Amino acid sequence: MGFPLRYIEPVYRPPSEARSLILPLTDGCSWNRCAFCEMYTAPQKRFRARDAAEVLAGIQALGAAAGAADIRRIFLADGDALVLPTRRLLEVLLAIRAHLPAVRRVSCYGLPRNVRKKSVAELRELAAAGLSLVYVGAESGDDEVLTRIDKGETFASTLEALEKLGAAGIRRSVMILNGLGGEILSAAHAQHSAELMNAAQPEYLATLVLSFPQGEARFRAAFPEWTPRSISGLLEEMARFIERLELKRTVFRSDHASNWLSLRGNLPEDKARLLEQLRLALAHPETAPLRPAWARGL
Ligand SMILES: C[S@@+](CC[C@H](N)C(=O)[O-])C[C@H]1O[C@@H](n2cnc3c(N)ncnc32)[C@H](O)[C@@H]1O
Ligand code: SF4
Repeated sequence: MGFPLRYIEPVYRPPSEARSLILPLTDGCSWNRCAFCEMYTAPQKRFRARDAAEVLAGIQALGAAAGAADIRRIFLADGDALVLPTRRLLEVLLAIRAHLPAVRRVSCYGLPRNVRKKSVAELRELAAAGLSLVYVGAESGDDEVLTRIDKGETFASTLEALEKLGAAGIRRSVMILNGLGGEILSAAHAQHSAELMNAAQPEYLATLVLSFPQGEARFRAAFPEWTPRSISGLLEEMARFIERLELKRTVFRSDHASNWLSLRGNLPEDKARLLEQLRLALAHPETAPLRPAWARGL
């Protein structure tokens, strides 16, 4: 028997899901409009929900296969599995419980709009059935930046989604994009993104650096005033962001391959150390442990 799951490339998952089984429930992204995002623009990644019978048969087959007991974590793909109705997500989570009892963590990406469409009671049902972590691409807390990039969200709408997940007992891992406001909106982007994080108090916070493997043309068309920040400009923006964070208990990661400087810590304990790492990198770029350009990626 071949591998029981079907993948349509490219498939993305957060770095912290590198050792998880990727279980596709949908292909592509239900929104697919963010000006910076090229993840699901290929024709084969046009958004569609996978057939429920296919997904359930895949889970059943995985459970019967050798190695089932080694599957501890599952990431529900693609770009926004939470777009599916709660009933369908519950079916999947319950099938995972029944056929893959060694699984300890199930996670997925979740767009704020699709989180908001679910009640806290529905999200609690999903949590009780095993969904423990949702990755939310907030990208920014600044409403002007969010409008420019066509995220379809605002500070308030993103906060509402993050609060609902929190109220349901689902851990939140939030992504913020360093450089997204360019020169012109950098200060507002750092300030309002920190305010959004302070209001939401996510359990995990990750920053990525805006990158354009396929070129900047599409992004520039949406945001013509945008000019890229230099490496030092990006590090300054990070320092401005971290300085303003007032987090009570958050794991912070800025170690995705898109980052020039890798930063990791727990907030609030490591805030001073992270700021010192940034200060040193800005003061002594020649000796700073910056990732070489060839090693960067998305
Ligand atoms: C699959 S998407 C996120 C999931 C979900 N669709 C959402 O928006 O919440 C993964 C994340 O990759 C990051 N990303 C996408 N395109 C990027 C780019 N061009 N440069 C840097 N990061 C990017 C964004 O932070 C995005 O939220
Ligand atoms: S960032 Fe998320 S919502 Fe926006 S297009 Fe990409 S996958 Fe879709």
